[in-house]
Amino acid sequence: MTQKEQLNSNIPHHIAIIMDGNGRWAKKKGLLRAIGHENGAKGVQEAVEACTEIGVKYLTLYAFSTENWNRPKREVDALMKLLVNSLKKEVASLQKNNIKLNAIGNLDALPEKVKNELLYVIDQTKDNTQITVTLALSYGSREELIKTVKDISIKVKNNLISPHLINETVISEHLYTKNLPDVDLLIRTSGEQRISNFLLWQIAYAELYFTKILWPDFRKTDLFEAVLNYQQRERRFGKTSEQLS
Ligand code: FPP
Repeated sequence: MTQKEQLNSNIPHHIAIIMDGNGRWAKKKGLLRAIGHENGAKGVQEAVEACTEIGVKYLTLYAFSTENWNRPKREVDALMKLLVNSLKKEVASLQKNNIKLNAIGNLDALPEKVKNELLYVIDQTKDNTQITVTLALSYGSREELIKTVKDISIKVKNNLISPHLINETVISEHLYTKNLPDVDLLIRTSGEQRISNFLLWQIAYAELYFTKILWPDFRKTDLFEAVLNYQQRERRFGKTSEQLS
């Protein structure tokens, strides 16, 4: 039986992926880091297709972190160019497959060209319903939380929110991810076992899955493997096993 055939009906609603290892993949082959990123686009395609096939409704991909701005300009430029080209190339396929594109992060920090193309594709695909694919771009969880605290503070100051009514729902509704459910399964490739400032609030109860595969080598079967692993775990949300059964 293939991994896909072994899956049961407990499909994670929201999968988030830290796509890591493009640079090492390229280095191993004696290629430029930018070529690693280009091949990373294949991993993106495979992950989206795999999620669509098994009925995952939300896939969130860490494509560019706030910290990634500190990389050499040449690499940042190559990544931005890759993003624009991928968006241009994929828009028809997103439409055909009923995929809605979404983005989280400080989008105003992106080059005008990237931001415009991104907003265009988001608008074009806004009525699609099969899956929502969210790109985290110029995203950092701490930056998101700072922005959230500022936005809520302004509302408190203007008497729009009463401080004693601030709860988890209020905070969730002020995050970039306000339209997304909490993450069920977080995958990180390349063997690193870190969260690296990704969705800190949203992964509070997520299952974490780490694989040694470098992102450009990530295939559909790797995603099915991660979901199979997820299905073998018991999510207790702080309760006991007996309370769950
Ligand atoms: C991490 O590898 C990857 C990134 C910083 C960028 C992710 C981008 C892509 C997968 C490109 C395609 C994206 C889209 C949305 C078309 P790394 O450079 O940190 O690798 P390393 O840790 O081996 O150096």
